[in-house]
Amino acid sequence: MDRPRWLKLVFLISLLMLCHGRTNLAFKFKHQDYSHIYNQTLAKILAEYASAVYMTDLTELFTWTCSRCNDLTKGFEMIELIVDVQYCLQAFVGVAHDLNAIIIAFRGTQENSIQNWIEDLLWKQLDLNYPNISDAMVHRGFYFAYHNTTVRPVVVNAVKRTRKLYGKFPVMVTGHSMGGAMASFCALDLAVNFGIHNVQLMTFGQPRVGNAAFASYFTEHVPKTIRVTNGNDIVPHLPPYYSLFPQKTYHHFPREVWTHNIGIGTLVYMIEQICDGSGEDPSCSRSVSGDSITDHKKYLGIDMQADTWGSCRIVMDYSALQYQMDLAGNIVLSKDPVSPSIIQSITQEDNTRSNVQN
Ligand SMILES: *[C@@H]1O[C@H](CO)[C@@H](O)[C@H](O)[C@H]1NC(C)=O
Ligand SMILES: *[C@@H]1O[C@H](CO)[C@@H](O)[C@H](O)[C@H]1NC(C)=O
Ligand SMILES: *[C@@H]1O[C@H](CO)[C@@H](O)[C@H](O)[C@H]1NC(C)=O
Repeated sequence: MDRPRWLKLVFLISLLMLCHGRTNLAFKFKHQDYSHIYNQTLAKILAEYASAVYMTDLTELFTWTCSRCNDLTKGFEMIELIVDVQYCLQAFVGVAHDLNAIIIAFRGTQENSIQNWIEDLLWKQLDLNYPNISDAMVHRGFYFAYHNTTVRPVVVNAVKRTRKLYGKFPVMVTGHSMGGAMASFCALDLAVNFGIHNVQLMTFGQPRVGNAAFASYFTEHVPKTIRVTNGNDIVPHLPPYYSLFPQKTYHHFPREVWTHNIGIGTLVYMIEQICDGSGEDPSCSRSVSGDSITDHKKYLGIDMQADTWGSCRIVMDYSALQYQMDLAGNIVLSKDPVSPSIIQSITQEDNTRSNVQN
């Protein structure tokens, strides 16, 4: 009978020590004051936008009446919603009046099997020179999804129009998973090619997109970047980081914030750990095995996946909304009464881009 009691005591002491440790942590957090780097409230708001862009009913999403279009994102004014049917991509641009900011959100992969997509990530090569930046290499597929589809011209056009309408609001770009990769390219594009200086990026569970040279270029131009990772989420571990080959490997840009649970039994706390400025802090998500898909699907307690399954299913009441469709069947829902300039500019920019690449 003695032993269980003794064990109980040890357990209690450990618990106390744990609590003690936690207090220390909280204190450290306050003491070092990371609030200028990472704002928990803002993270939660942007996570809700990154979650909403997954919704499949375009009418509800466009009119901001979807089940996830609520809570901290109430009052959001949608400016433009783009669905690239060809490549199964979705994004929106709008104004959060409570933040006085332009919000851009990109949807993650919408595939029947996220497992396949993840397995695929294991083998992704650094196979594209980031244009005009020597030594900066990125993954072509991620680059393509933002730069070489209907997404970029429509997003850029919407941002320009919104800034004309509301002034030079800061731009906050967000996305989960593959949407985080696209959000990264978008933030960099707006900062470098369109001279928007107040661009902020916050992504959730994004994969690596480029090498170390790309990461430092990125940090230079989009310093206000937060990459939230969660527990053992596998995706931020991919494509792999090979510390033995620093010149050849993928390399995350900073700054990671690693959310994970500590505690035992019912006493579980979520910690948001601010990581170092290297992008590859070994004491953050890299300190765990990174083998969980479940941890990929929820961030800050918010669902990060489509509300229904099926690849690229589009639900839309075609009669109720003004929209445009290009020859490939891609859809742009716009707040503006039909402005054919958008589709025209897509075609034009497509041509320009092919020229640049040739
Ligand atoms: C965090 O963000 C929220 C929403 O933008 C803002 O109201 C709050 O003042 C910010 N907190 C800090 C410490 O910057
Ligand atoms: C690369 O540089 C050339 C020459 O300076 C310029 O014309 C082109 O627009 C640049 N491309 C990109 C993608 O920035
Ligand atoms: C973008 O599209 C053009 C024309 O379709 C193609 O030639 C080019 O290789 C593509 N770029 C990338 C990065 O895949």
